[in-house]
Amino acid sequence: MVLVDIHCHILPGIDDGSKDWQTSMKLAKDAVKDGITHAVMTPHTLNGRYLNHKEDVIRLTDNFQKMLDEAKIPLTVFPGQEVRISGDLPQALDDDDILFLDEDGRYMLLEFPSDDVPAYSKDMIFQVMQRSITPIIVHPERNSRILKNPSILQGLIEQGCLVQITASSYVGTFGKEIEEMSRKFIEAGQCACFASDAHDLPKRDYEYSEALQKLSNEFGSEKAQEYRDNAQAIVNGDNVQLNWQPLTTKKKKKFWLF
Ligand SMILES: [Fe+2]
Repeated sequence: MVLVDIHCHILPGIDDGSKDWQTSMKLAKDAVKDGITHAVMTPHTLNGRYLNHKEDVIRLTDNFQKMLDEAKIPLTVFPGQEVRISGDLPQALDDDDILFLDEDGRYMLLEFPSDDVPAYSKDMIFQVMQRSITPIIVHPERNSRILKNPSILQGLIEQGCLVQITASSYVGTFGKEIEEMSRKFIEAGQCACFASDAHDLPKRDYEYSEALQKLSNEFGSEKAQEYRDNAQAIVNGDNVQLNWQPLTTKKKKKFWLF
């Protein structure tokens, strides 16, 4: 069965992910063990620390595919990028230096700083959408500003963005608060799919299948299938739509009433 991972850092030596080819091959084996059949290589770019040019990512991904084929590791890899929101983004798009998740350039992973959603985000997303690009917001459940004010995500979805939650977040690897936030976004239909966001980090394993199993247990097998289908549709450049609602805010119990 096809399982697509739209976000991981397993290309060697170009960002905070895999450090060398040996690690990349190990991570690829881990991905396959977790059930992943296709993965988009999404090193960071425009984030102030890492600037990975499109042609370098394509070349490295081609090399990786050759090595995977030689080692008979059944993983198909595609070149992509995790694009940090930045004033430099329009220029990078003009320069044809941005990679998308699909060949037609419809879907783009969009990352915020981990502690902020910058004030210019709305305007930048508008500019990006005017180019017929749909940003996919990566792991909002790990953004400290969104954790404090989860309704921020709604505004981004209203603008037309899609959302990807990190599989490990939903299974609890980053703690209860992030796990709960993930569940709330999922429950409200505000997430399209999971991704591994795999790095070579201690205590950071592939947990994509575990997340899908948990999703199936909590929200039904149709939901898990929908997440699989959405990830596949994204790399194919097909339509993906969120059927979402606003987050429900818990009313405080009034203990003094009977
Ligand atoms: Fe990432």
